[in-house]
Amino acid sequence: MPLPEIDLPVYPNECDAFGHLNQAAFLSLFERARWEMLMRGPGWDVFTRSGAWPAVRKTVIDYHAAAFPGDILRFQQALTHHGRTSFTMRQTARRVRDDTLIATAEFVFVCVDGGGRPIPVPREFGDFMSPRHGGDAQRLTVNGVSLAVEVRGEGPAVLFIHGYPLDRSVWAHPVAALEGYRRIAPDLRGAGESDAPDLGYSVETYARDLAALLDALGIDDAVLCGLSMGGYIAFEFIRRWRARVRGLVLMDTRAEADTAEGKRARDAAAGTARERGAAAIAESMLPKVLSAATLSGSPETVERVRAMMAGSPVSGLVGALGAMRDRPDSTDLLPTLAGLPTVILVGEEDELTPPARARAMAEAIPGARLVVIPGAGHLLPVERPSATTDELFDFLRSIP
Ligand code: MLT
Repeated sequence: MPLPEIDLPVYPNECDAFGHLNQAAFLSLFERARWEMLMRGPGWDVFTRSGAWPAVRKTVIDYHAAAFPGDILRFQQALTHHGRTSFTMRQTARRVRDDTLIATAEFVFVCVDGGGRPIPVPREFGDFMSPRHGGDAQRLTVNGVSLAVEVRGEGPAVLFIHGYPLDRSVWAHPVAALEGYRRIAPDLRGAGESDAPDLGYSVETYARDLAALLDALGIDDAVLCGLSMGGYIAFEFIRRWRARVRGLVLMDTRAEADTAEGKRARDAAAGTARERGAAAIAESMLPKVLSAATLSGSPETVERVRAMMAGSPVSGLVGALGAMRDRPDSTDLLPTLAGLPTVILVGEEDELTPPARARAMAEAIPGARLVVIPGAGHLLPVERPSATTDELFDFLRSIP
């Protein structure tokens, strides 16, 4: 179930001498929208039932356009960080009449008891605010962040590394289906239900998180399966911990660094994320990542990907864009992968990392196999889940 959207009217007494909705009145409207949302969900007393009170520790509001008496504003709420005792909520207000973005806000809360001491965020609240995932993830604190990670099955380990602006749910099919393997699918820092710190993102940091995650799970080595940005991270992991990698799946990805133009596009996208939020990133990315067949023939897949992208924490989006912009070129690494079982999977209609690039990578890695999957764009495991899982099975079985 998506979180309820809340429509609230602007009253004249909330406006200033120029007839604009006053900036201070916004605080009340954002708060009213939160209470309304709770009333339509677990109830106003969801906190007090657990003896917890959410105290606001930080508020950031961006005012984008003026609103006037009589306007109806639509408030959307999303949880962008769920810590042990704190959480961050992002809210947007749009004018219903013309869909103009009026304001965006981020509120950091700490749950405290009657004596003002921090206490855990009530589980019921977290479950209500994070409807995208089932309760099957565990949380592990590694390398200074708490990561949500799904771990299933027994056998040789396969570590799934998702792309941008996505989360671990892209791996739902192979994680459910690859029996006989220990499937590990984390939300990277800044994505899904993992912590989304404001700063400190790089492909090196992501790779260190993953190495620490394997340590925490007591796993020495794994097959790495990286989708797009996940591939960039896999290259970094191999540069540092080659001995821990038993095989490599490169999915819809590439080895080259960003061009100067590509770096400028990353900065522009980061500006969009900051000013207009994750929903705007989702709108611009959707047509680039899905094939024409998916866009026209699978509305439920389109909506699933849109919701995944639009639920991304802004700090995580901005962090990932900077990490991708600054990532090193991995072309020189490819010939050195001789002896590492490698398969390269690509959607036939992948525009972001097209089959020609995948073919060039396959030719540069001695012994690598290339598989082009028809009907898919840049998101193979979401657009062609069964075909992707079949290829993964074949590859995993081929590893000595
Ligand atoms: C991804 O899917 O991870 C990104 O689109 C990769 C990129 O933008 O380079």
